[in-house]
Amino acid sequence: MLDKPVSRPNDLSAYWMPFTANRQFKRAPRMITGADGMHYVTDDGRQVLDGIAGLWCVNAGHNRPKIVEAIQTQAATLDYAPSFQMAHPRAFELATRLADLSPDGLDHVFFTNSGSESVETALKMALAYHRAKGDGGRFRLIGRERGYHGVNFGGISVGGIVANRKMFGTLLTGVDHMRHTHDLSRNAFARGEPEHGVELADDLLRIAQLHDPSTIAAVIVEPVAGSAGVLLPPKGYLKRLREICDEHGILLIFDEVITGYGRLGTNFGADYFGVKPDLMTTAKGLTNGTVPMGAVFAANHIHDAFMSGPDHMIEFFHGYTYSAHPLACAAALGTLDTYAEEGLLSRGAEMADYWADAIHSLKGLPHVIDTRNLGLIGAVELEPIAGAPTKRAFSAFLDAYHNHDLLIRTTGDIIAFSPPLIIEKEHVDQIVDRMTKVLTALD
Ligand SMILES: Cc1ncc(COP(=O)(O)O)c(C=O)c1O
Repeated sequence: MLDKPVSRPNDLSAYWMPFTANRQFKRAPRMITGADGMHYVTDDGRQVLDGIAGLWCVNAGHNRPKIVEAIQTQAATLDYAPSFQMAHPRAFELATRLADLSPDGLDHVFFTNSGSESVETALKMALAYHRAKGDGGRFRLIGRERGYHGVNFGGISVGGIVANRKMFGTLLTGVDHMRHTHDLSRNAFARGEPEHGVELADDLLRIAQLHDPSTIAAVIVEPVAGSAGVLLPPKGYLKRLREICDEHGILLIFDEVITGYGRLGTNFGADYFGVKPDLMTTAKGLTNGTVPMGAVFAANHIHDAFMSGPDHMIEFFHGYTYSAHPLACAAALGTLDTYAEEGLLSRGAEMADYWADAIHSLKGLPHVIDTRNLGLIGAVELEPIAGAPTKRAFSAFLDAYHNHDLLIRTTGDIIAFSPPLIIEKEHVDQIVDRMTKVLTALD
């Protein structure tokens, strides 16, 4: 039609961007056109140091040859296979490899396409497990304030980020929340796990007593809360949660979408903290961010509880068209090979001290009210501008990207760092240098 305006290649109006200040972005776009290793390439030809592994997911760095090749080969061999009542070999190969990597006894893997879907899957598994055991009176799900468990209805219900919940009605019923563990009055500038706050785990007991423990199906927490701004578990906190769950027959779900696949210098957060959950949700680093995929790890007793009844019957009425997608499986296998060959799952442990020194060296700069670290995660918390929360950190983000070639991530007034695990000391130094300039100039 001649009178229809021709859409320009640089027309930004049609794409409604997720978790983005759309109007601000479209006034001054930040466009990425390429990537390699530790860097992004921008449309104006700059090399931007990736301080956040994309979105906490590109753990092996960008455009890794094994992963690229695995995806390309798979696309040309088997594009798609149905995952309901059918399968392809790589799905089994991947599940076995993952079960070998996971804590002992979490030997069953259910594939999804994202962290959000992994969370929904784990919550449903928990409820259905109790039903399968004849304990269907356990219907409550417990989350935690400031928890992030993706954006689907189950996830935002157990999640505790107000902005992600308040627009969306009544959410799931039968949900309650423990207090969060972030306490700058006692733990500011802690190196590693904070000393104070183990008693906050007893908030689960309070909630259990309020509702009657026998009505609670599961509690879900991130071992380290990432998206809410790197909130660390106090020493002993996760162990105490496990004890309370055991005492009261409550399942413990670790949401390891960020802490999985080497972020803390161990395979999973469960390994780092020495606490074994009943269910573990993962995504992100599973395919190094290349193809959407998530995986839920189920303890053997959970899985086995479903394996009863006539054997022609479906045991768990749940799954996705793209569960165990061949391209995602290939990408994940290429990713696991890359992690293994380069020792990346333990590299966070080797770099942790250098990283901790670097992050804490930002203490004392203007507006900095906390610096914290664990594994290859770090955060700088800023004093918010009175009456304009989030603005200060967002300004830092813009300045870092536009003027200092550094990609960081902000939540509220917290700046988070979570670089690819291939990071070298020189990159750590660059992050500190550039952040020092950004913070020094910040209003
Ligand atoms: C702990 C946690 N759970 C779930 C999710 C949701 O993952 P996705 O965005 O892949 O749905 C995230 C994403 O950041 C996360 O950090």
